[in-house]
Amino acid sequence: MQRSLARLGDPVATVETPALVIDLDAMERNLAAMAAFARSQGVGLRPHAKMHKSAAIAKAQIAAGAVGVCVQKVSEAEVLADAGIADIYISNEVIDAAKLMRVAALAGRITLAIAVDSILGIDRLAEACRAASSAPNVFVEIDVGQGRCGVSPEEAGALARHVVSSGLRFGGIQAYQGGAQHLRGADEREGAVRSAAALVRAAQLSIASAGVACPLVTGGGTGTFVFEAASGAYGEMQVGSYLFMDCDYADNEPAEHAPRFEQALFVKSQVMSRRAAHVVVDAGLKAYAVDSGLPRVWQRELELFNYGDEHGILRRSGSDSTADLPLLGDPVWLVPGHCDPTVSLHDAYVAVRGGLERGVIEALWAVDTRGCLL
Ligand SMILES: Cc1ncc(COP(=O)(O)O)c(C=O)c1O
Repeated sequence: MQRSLARLGDPVATVETPALVIDLDAMERNLAAMAAFARSQGVGLRPHAKMHKSAAIAKAQIAAGAVGVCVQKVSEAEVLADAGIADIYISNEVIDAAKLMRVAALAGRITLAIAVDSILGIDRLAEACRAASSAPNVFVEIDVGQGRCGVSPEEAGALARHVVSSGLRFGGIQAYQGGAQHLRGADEREGAVRSAAALVRAAQLSIASAGVACPLVTGGGTGTFVFEAASGAYGEMQVGSYLFMDCDYADNEPAEHAPRFEQALFVKSQVMSRRAAHVVVDAGLKAYAVDSGLPRVWQRELELFNYGDEHGILRRSGSDSTADLPLLGDPVWLVPGHCDPTVSLHDAYVAVRGGLERGVIEALWAVDTRGCLL
């Protein structure tokens, strides 16, 4: 791993750039707000660790009341289990037999759950678990409108019965509506979750008709969790981005009665070149994702309007004026458009206490599951 001069207790001004920086005060307020919301609604909280990819942060979430965490990849689960996370849900389908042997082995070490949406997936998982004498919880995924993985509600009963008759433990229903998370209007998101909850209820009927008990429905994301919790259909929330936030989520119209989350994740950059009408910072495509739009500049009238692999090019917002352009060496704090793929570009976080101007470095955390795609 590359060397960094960041030292605990040093001022934030010493953080070398480009760096992935957490405003710890803001993150902890987000963490506490979501934990309090889940408690008040009587729903379980299982935050998605695919977002932060950090064992230290997963532990903080569990210490604040989360029942465990979600991941999407087997290798993410292995790394977090090795780091001491004892309750993990792979909220994703795994079909490869070799990977399912790893799932079965991991289920012998920790409390593990996994999603399925096919007979073949169940058969392969059952075979691997028989060989390993282990028993993960198995969730049948239904498609509640995203058009990604998942069967129809009517097919859920047959799959649930197949889970049980294969000697596996049926955990319940996976019902994540990813397509609803960034619908800008709160009413639109509420409507999408109303439809999702109706599909969940249809799936529960199908499962009951197949003679199988359905212990839990899990799903929900940062854009919709208030509606899933209010629907009465869901027992567990899989929220991820609430902890750090990003521009894409900041653009959602907030839902009434929803906790408000603050921006807590930044890419710190600095001005490396100053031209007639623009400045260039030392953070480009390798320091932030652009799939949900370019990063925005934090609390300054500047816009990042172009980028290269290692460069971000900034001008005064909406004008060619050079007035008040930052000086060579000045820090520029960027807010990522999308937190998950931005985090996965970095080896480590610098966690800062006391704000971005006068704070100090309180912790350095590895992005533990960086590169965990298998
Ligand atoms: C299955 C699943 N659950 C939960 C989430 C968390 O969503 P968010 O980060 O938007 O809260 C995601 C995100 O893509 C997901 O794929």
